[in-house]
Amino acid sequence: LGPADLAGETVLVTAGPTREELDPVRYLSNYSSGKMGYAIAAAARNRGARVILVSGPTCLDAPCGVELHQVVSARQMREAVLAQAASASIIIKAAAVADYRPAQAAAQKIKKTGAEALTLTLEKNPDILAELGRIKEQRILVGFAAETADLLANARKKLTEKGLDMIVANDVSQPGAGFDVDTNIVRLLYPDGRVEELPQMSKDEVAHRLLDRVAGLRKA
Ligand code: PMT
Repeated sequence: LGPADLAGETVLVTAGPTREELDPVRYLSNYSSGKMGYAIAAAARNRGARVILVSGPTCLDAPCGVELHQVVSARQMREAVLAQAASASIIIKAAAVADYRPAQAAAQKIKKTGAEALTLTLEKNPDILAELGRIKEQRILVGFAAETADLLANARKKLTEKGLDMIVANDVSQPGAGFDVDTNIVRLLYPDGRVEELPQMSKDEVAHRLLDRVAGLRKA
């Protein structure tokens, strides 16, 4: 167990993928397993926090004692997060939210036709983290950035544009990092320009490192 340095805090964590419905039997999604977000939820609970976990569909059991809100789509995640945000003092967004969804979910299964190609029109989902940045108040707001190129530049842009206290930059093209594996390789970026590079660690260890820094920001 870690130190009880988050006692009295309410930590809202998001985890897992979202699924964006295409028709009654198909969806668009990504490879997030929820492991990173669930590790943060368990670590925060072990450090004494009340933990609210808003999770997309995963195969994981919620850590005991954590308040679980299950959602499917990005729009459902937004509703659940905004409903819980007011009671949170710390928000950590590890979920892999779909940026776009099919403009129309077909009411019936889309049938194969003679055509060789099928074009889907996608429309933008709400950016939950950016919205949280606009109603931030005293809360500590931590985002993740999953990147396959220009890691630091892209992460810094998200840190600034979404009004975050810290962003966890995740080069998801590296073996042992990112989606569905048990380890991660991340850098922590702060608004003052500092970058902290962490070696490959278990997602549990990453969660604790991140919470060490969050606890420090809380005391500052
Ligand atoms: O779940 P695992 O298999 O353990 O994998 C972990 C992980 C790779 C999913 C995780 O470490 C990670 O990087 N999560 C962020 C994934 C992501 O969607 O990154 P992004 O760069 O697209 O989004 C930036 C931030 O904005 C994220 O905090 C995201 O939650 C948030 N966001 C994104 C889009 C959107 N519409 N709303 C959001 O709130």
